[in-house]
Amino acid sequence: MTTFGIDAECGRLIEYDTAAELRELCKSGELDGALPLGGGSNILFTGACRDLTVIHCRNTAFSIRETDNCGIVEVSAAAGCVLDTLCEQTAAAGLWGLENLSGIPGEIGGAVVQNVGAYGAELGDVVARVNCLNVKTNEFVTLTGEECRYGYRDSVFKHHPAKEQLIVTEAVLTLRRDGVPNLSYSGLKERIGRMSGLNLSPTVMRGEVMAMRNGKLPDPKKTGSAGSFFKNPVVSLEFHAEIEKRYGDRVPGHKVTDSDGLERIKLSAAWLIDKSGCKQFSAGGASLWPLQPLVIVNTEGAATGADVINLEKQIIATVRTRFGVELVPEVIHI
Ligand code: EPU
Repeated sequence: MTTFGIDAECGRLIEYDTAAELRELCKSGELDGALPLGGGSNILFTGACRDLTVIHCRNTAFSIRETDNCGIVEVSAAAGCVLDTLCEQTAAAGLWGLENLSGIPGEIGGAVVQNVGAYGAELGDVVARVNCLNVKTNEFVTLTGEECRYGYRDSVFKHHPAKEQLIVTEAVLTLRRDGVPNLSYSGLKERIGRMSGLNLSPTVMRGEVMAMRNGKLPDPKKTGSAGSFFKNPVVSLEFHAEIEKRYGDRVPGHKVTDSDGLERIKLSAAWLIDKSGCKQFSAGGASLWPLQPLVIVNTEGAATGADVINLEKQIIATVRTRFGVELVPEVIHI
């Protein structure tokens, strides 16, 4: 049930279809301490978890609803809906908003928690509401997009108390019929720029995004991974200048405005890993994907959680020594 393809065994697996069913499970005390799992694409089980109960939403349904607000469409998707299916189907329906997220593995429930992102877009940009069950009170609650407090691979759902209390059952997204392509990622803009006389549609954008992903990232069907293993570190302008001075050359990064309104620099973790000489590192069955060293892969399907952690530790220590930057994993460790 995870994209890493690493063996792990939980004590119990509960799969449910409806929010009402989830509430019944909650009432009977079966969800105490349970771990909600989506597509398992951003998670690492580090060892045996025989005391753990894992719950998973089997409901893959989604629906599209026109609104009175011209051009705006609401898409409701159950937690178990596969994100890429939603990207494909909404693009095919001529709706803008999810096309840049094409090819990201996982299901909607996990995606709204993690605020998945790629090629200049984040899911949080289009989240209108998220419906959840509060397992402490056994009540249904709805959070607005703003209340989800989206940040870079971050949301309210990753922090206490929501982390322990809320299980996402459904997300409502705002997509547009009259949208425009998001070309803020320079690599995507260059690709599109080379295609002359083309009528850009969400489906055409999706095709370009998929082609970019396939060129750099491992095929999830062939090689196990959890996508980017580390977050791209965000540092102050002063610290960026300091590491450039010490390195004696440009250290790539781009300006971001943090939630506190301050300008900072988001560094490329892949570049830091590469320039620290970690690309060839391996530990047991775990290694780095040669074309994108931010991705730890289960090289031949035989890696263990301990192998991945060994490799992670080696990389963190080496990048710290070389650049004084502390890499933080994006992948959740259980
Ligand atoms: N690079 C090297 N050496 C290499 C390969 C790449 O130095 O061998 C450097 C290059 O400087 C290049 C950069 O790495 O510019 C790669 O940047 P890119 O924009 O392709 O990807 P990223 O910043 O490494 C982030 C996300 C990805 C997302 C891509 C595209 C994070 C942690 N990762 O990666 O998300 O698909 O941008 O938008 O933010 C994920 O979260 O699982 C994920 C795959």
